[in-house]
Amino acid sequence: MNHSATDMSSSPLPEGGSRGEPTLAPRGAGGTAHPPLPEGGSRGEPTPAVKDGGCAAVPVITIDGPTASGKGTVAHGVAEALGWHVLDSGALYRLTALAAREQGVPADDAARLAAVAGGLDVRFEPGCIYLCGREVGELIRQEEVGNLASRLAALPEVRAALLARQRAFLRPPGLVADGRDMGTVVFPEAGLKIFLVADVGARAERRRKQLMEKGIPANLEDLLRDMRERDARDANRKVAPLAPAADARQLDSSSLTAGQTVQAILNIWRQAQAGR
Ligand code: DC
Repeated sequence: MNHSATDMSSSPLPEGGSRGEPTLAPRGAGGTAHPPLPEGGSRGEPTPAVKDGGCAAVPVITIDGPTASGKGTVAHGVAEALGWHVLDSGALYRLTALAAREQGVPADDAARLAAVAGGLDVRFEPGCIYLCGREVGELIRQEEVGNLASRLAALPEVRAALLARQRAFLRPPGLVADGRDMGTVVFPEAGLKIFLVADVGARAERRRKQLMEKGIPANLEDLLRDMRERDARDANRKVAPLAPAADARQLDSSSLTAGQTVQAILNIWRQAQAGR
């Protein structure tokens, strides 16, 4: 399939498209695009139905890939087109990092960090993310928070503490989940797994543009260095490293717009459905 042949949208592919712009609520679901925790606010074990990711009953598309590959924007676009919910799993790691930083928890204290992750008082609403009632959607996008999130994400205790919380996002009519291990660990039974890549130069340039638009000065060399470091840490950690699932479809978005990438994924999904 030639994904670069047609130009459908001129919008570039910033990472984490949920921030700033309105979040795309699922059609017909009447809820937020990021559903809250289940009734009772359980953060413990997932229900039996979602022990395996629960994908047999509710369809899931996973979109994994490195930082700034455009996963967030694309996940929201696919979710909007299908009328599904969306899980931005990176936001949970970023929220853990922000909360840990604010509580003065050292980045190597796995037990305390897991407690922070398990006890996050977070609420997702269209376009907004609240931590303990405070809107932190922009704050968690800071590069320092992202770098700290990547360090904490290497700790198995932190990952375990966030697993049930991520699976709790699975609700009818469907879920688009973006992150690093959505297809390998969190939703291994997903009906479609996309591994979204883009060369590091394209990703650093996207990130630079995005920061500039927010009036934040950014140096391309620094961004490239940080991105390479983060890629290496995410890909080389022992637990749930950034890697395509064996049954993932790889998609290179280096020269695609957000709209083209969304369309490419929708095409793959619809073809797969037609062939079932
Ligand atoms: O996708 P992001 O840049 O917002 O994620 C921030 C960090 O969180 C990323 O560097 C690695 C970590 N992360 C992870 O380990 N697993 C996920 N499913 C999502 C994010």
